[in-house]
Amino acid sequence: MILEAQGLTRRFGGVVAVNQVSLRVAQGDLAAVIGPNGAGKSTLFHLISGHLPADGGRVALHDRDISNLAPDQRARLGMAIAFQSVRLFRGMTVVENVMVGGHAWTRHGFVSAFLRLPGQRREEAAIRAEAMRAVQLVGLESDADTLAESLPLGVQREIQVARALCGRPSLLLLDEPASGLRGAERERLAQLIETLRAEGVSMLLVEHDVAFVTRLAGRITVMDRGSVIAEGTPAEVQRDPVVIGAYLGQDRTRATRA
Ligand SMILES: Nc1ncnc2c1ncn2[C@@H]1O[C@H](COP(=O)(O)OP(=O)(O)O)[C@@H](O)[C@H]1O
Ligand SMILES: [Mg+2]
Repeated sequence: MILEAQGLTRRFGGVVAVNQVSLRVAQGDLAAVIGPNGAGKSTLFHLISGHLPADGGRVALHDRDISNLAPDQRARLGMAIAFQSVRLFRGMTVVENVMVGGHAWTRHGFVSAFLRLPGQRREEAAIRAEAMRAVQLVGLESDADTLAESLPLGVQREIQVARALCGRPSLLLLDEPASGLRGAERERLAQLIETLRAEGVSMLLVEHDVAFVTRLAGRITVMDRGSVIAEGTPAEVQRDPVVIGAYLGQDRTRATRA
């Protein structure tokens, strides 16, 4: 098993944001976690990545317990992350932004590579080559030397995915990669995820949008108010009355607000 989370729990004051959640990602899988807003998806994501400490439960990567490891240590063991909010460096090109992802797998940090200290030029060249491979994988080679901040949101998301892929992680975690995207941008991102899946990249996708996920994921875990309310194939989950109820409940709230 690439990833195994067991009984993960996290509270914020009186709110149990994640309540005893377990899930697995096997080699080559595209597993998804869906749920209405506030279900606990991002919190679960941060418990898995190590950016938030858990109040209970365990996380294993390649059957090794990583529950007590910091995010950078988890990254070095092969876990890569693309957060929900785009975090790109201003004044840097697409390939330079992707190179930032290379620090996880090199001896010297990314920053020292940029200082061009003796003996580190070769390393910088290796990172650049690996970053270009990731840029090509997401289909952005023609924009490699463009300033990242000048590109539309959909492309910036793809840069973030490329950065996560730099260094060939064994697991890619994506938090709502389609949020804020519509139409063609959204379709392009879905196709990118399908391409990565065909390339054998194991992924855990956290997503609010059921339609976006059903076409991509093999298995879906559905969360609502911190707990897992359903688990199964897209077809099973979509006809589950409990799942329909959780989403309808949210739509009703939205309709009232609108
Ligand atoms: N840093 C935080 N401090 C306090 N409450 C939080 C924090 N992060 C999330 N929560 C609460 O935890 C619950 C789950 O939030 P979140 O994981 O962001 O859900 P989702 O990503 O599914 O929309 C919500 O009730 C939210 O208000
Ligand atoms: Mg979220």
